[in-house]
Amino acid sequence: MKRVYSIAIDGPAGAGKSTVAKGVAERLGIVYVDTGAMYRAIGLKTLRLGIPSDDEKAVEPILDSTSVTIEFKDGAQHIFLDGEDVTGLIRTQDVSNAASKVSAIPAVRYKLVELQRKLAEGTSLAMDGRDIGNYVLPNAEYKFFVTASPEQRASRRYRELKEKGRLNGMTFNELYLEMVERDRRDSGRECMPLKKAPDAVLVDTTYLTIEESIQAVLRYIV
Ligand code: DC
Repeated sequence: MKRVYSIAIDGPAGAGKSTVAKGVAERLGIVYVDTGAMYRAIGLKTLRLGIPSDDEKAVEPILDSTSVTIEFKDGAQHIFLDGEDVTGLIRTQDVSNAASKVSAIPAVRYKLVELQRKLAEGTSLAMDGRDIGNYVLPNAEYKFFVTASPEQRASRRYRELKEKGRLNGMTFNELYLEMVERDRRDSGRECMPLKKAPDAVLVDTTYLTIEESIQAVLRYIV
């Protein structure tokens, strides 16, 4: 019988979570699901509609008429907002901030957590996010909390945005402060905050290369 892997990978922004989750999924030949993209899609929708991303009363009413779906093309995840492929539009700093804000709204979380649980039913996957080990897949067979120092995380993000030409004039210090604020919001919210699951393995990638980080996770998976 085919082995079903269920791997939850949580951690703050820039810790290398998605790179590690993607690498692990590739090695095991399983699906990688990036749940942050779903919050980003809803964040993008609030920006497009011009509604405050942190205003529960403004965001809740749009949820029923908002569809967020994912598809896998050649192994890569594509995210659709109301039928439109927005994969290439959700990595800006504005969308990062909007995603962090909408993700504190309980109705947004319930909608997306339901979708994430459906995706995981009977499927082998490595799912990355903030609340996967504690709330989305509390029975995941393997759980990891991937983190790194705030300075290291900010410099990785800075380099990544710079390489992709997406800095839009932002300085390292501005990015660092926005990241610290995002961490504070993600860990401080009442509903399903970013928090290490008690049974998750802590992986600190501050001094690890990408390959070492992937190996740090893989060595627990049998
Ligand atoms: O992983 P990311 O940077 O793409 O996530 C964007 C935002 O979405 C992040 O600031 C917090 C939120 N998020 C969340 O609350 N829960 C998840 N499972 C994934 C992301």
